[in-house]
Amino acid sequence: MSDDAEAVSNIIDGRALAKKIEERVKERAGAFLKDVGSPPRLATVMVGEDPASQMYVRMKHRACERVGIASENANLPADAGMEGALDVIRALNSRSDVHGILVQLPLPPHLNERIVVGTVDPSKDVDGFHPMNMGNLLIGRERLVPCTPHGIIAALDEYGVELEGINAVIVGHSNVVGKPLAGMLLNRNATVTVCHVYTKDLKVHTLCADLLVVAAGVKGLVKADMVKDGVIVFDVGINTVGDKIYGDVEFDEVREKARLITPVPGGVGPMTIAMLLQHTLDAARAAEAIRRCHDGNK
Ligand code: GUN
Repeated sequence: MSDDAEAVSNIIDGRALAKKIEERVKERAGAFLKDVGSPPRLATVMVGEDPASQMYVRMKHRACERVGIASENANLPADAGMEGALDVIRALNSRSDVHGILVQLPLPPHLNERIVVGTVDPSKDVDGFHPMNMGNLLIGRERLVPCTPHGIIAALDEYGVELEGINAVIVGHSNVVGKPLAGMLLNRNATVTVCHVYTKDLKVHTLCADLLVVAAGVKGLVKADMVKDGVIVFDVGINTVGDKIYGDVEFDEVREKARLITPVPGGVGPMTIAMLLQHTLDAARAAEAIRRCHDGNK
């Protein structure tokens, strides 16, 4: 193998992995439509007009379209109150043709995110942010789990990475990535360290990592002298400078030492959206199974 081919081979191709997952979801969505007579459906809820959120929501709807999942968006005005937002969610909860509900975050500061997210029916919570789903994850019952950690676990599975007993270091303790990923890695018997903005000496921890996941939102935070040879690196960072996107890891230099590494863009991002599609299908299938069970008991 040439040096070039060897160097390329340690990059995790998130787009290719996502495509593979999307193909599986598309098959399942087609079977669902044939079986049930209507497609799986995702409803997104957005408050306000934040351009980044609008772009993410558009990407999610386009992904749904690619795989045969119907989708709709409820866009509330930026000054919508709690009651208005909760009414929209309750209406979606009660609709049997809606299988997944996603509230795009962040919400405007006057809305209580915890209450809004907690109002989504846990069985339709395709983001996995509801306290019941988070709690289940923590006790080893992974039902609907957050999409980014699930995408990372799916990529590790795909590459045949053995997690039992490895040193996994996560940088960032958010509810969206760091905390749920820590739970999922513990469920697979990894030894997990979670670092964050208050960690005293980050390098002490990152140097021990067999698996390093960086979700700090700080461009170029992790450099080559902070990792050991053979490390597996997932870069969750999305840092925009002008019209370019950078991760939290100095990719070119860390790649030289890594066994596997995700690029930004084209790494974790596409996997996250693919998992959202998979979750919508899972939620639709579970709802249909319950409906049939109820029908059978009549
Ligand atoms: N905003 C940033 N990431 C996410 C995500 O994964 N889900 C939702 N709903 N909003 C987000």
